[in-house]
Amino acid sequence: MQTVQDVPALRAAIRGWRTQGQTVGFVPTMGNLHAGHQSLIKLARARAERVVASVFVNPTQFGPNEDYDRYPRTLVQDQAALAEHDCDLLFAPDVATMYPFGPEHSVSVRVPQITDTLEGAHRPGHFDGMATVVCKLFNLVQPDLAVFGQKDFQQLKVVERMVRDLGLPVKVVAAPILRADDGLALSSRNQYLGAEERARAPLIHDTLQKMRELLAQGHPWQAVEQTAAARLERAGFVPDYVAIRRAEDLAEPAEGEREGLVALVAARLGGTRLIDNLRLD
Ligand code: PAJ
Repeated sequence: MQTVQDVPALRAAIRGWRTQGQTVGFVPTMGNLHAGHQSLIKLARARAERVVASVFVNPTQFGPNEDYDRYPRTLVQDQAALAEHDCDLLFAPDVATMYPFGPEHSVSVRVPQITDTLEGAHRPGHFDGMATVVCKLFNLVQPDLAVFGQKDFQQLKVVERMVRDLGLPVKVVAAPILRADDGLALSSRNQYLGAEERARAPLIHDTLQKMRELLAQGHPWQAVEQTAAARLERAGFVPDYVAIRRAEDLAEPAEGEREGLVALVAARLGGTRLIDNLRLD
């Protein structure tokens, strides 16, 4: 596997494949790769002849009080993990390559409406930064398809909207959430958890399943949200939101609406913010 850090080298590598008529699948990441990321690489591998991954900790999607500086940067291990999973090319640019005019003076992509709620409401500017960097990466890599995890469900929806609205020639492929045996969704942020917190963290997934049960029993979605939030609070979590929404557009369901719903949770456990979700159908 080749690693490239600048745009001319990236373009040269991809041009070679293109002239041979090969399809390109792309997996954008912020590195510190775990089995969840690997499952995305596998999916890209199955759907395209060539696989490109990127590792870039994108400054514009972190808020001023978030973990940009302490976000784990493990490029050497990431390279080994990607090579092992048959990735063809790693693009690992620096900030100046992705933001030639500096992050503050960059063109910004804002996807309206769907970003106003949930993660967008609790992390102002996060989705602008995310959409901007994904749009830039799509322009640089020009993949046929790109794989995104359902772990970041709203992110996936924002990317789908951006692609459709801007007419980008990329097929967005959704990958299922990979979980630890105890149900905790794999995440680079799990390593911030202390041993005692790690033992409690699966309660998020457990609560999502409970929400599915309660809704199936006919409880109104608002009551299910409240019960679930209280359950997490009792166990020492500080929820940002516990929500049942329409999977399609993340709008609130109508009274009695039961099809196509998703439950989403963001909660702090000690100093760590965890997110997870579960389809309810
Ligand atoms: P990152 O958090 O590194 O995640 C990269 C991709 O891996 C995302 O599509 C995410 O949904 C997926 N992923 C993470 N944990 C997963 C799990 N347990 N199961 C399945 N998929 C999982 O998301 C980002 O980076 C950034 O916002 C990015 C899109 C790269 C833009 O900077």
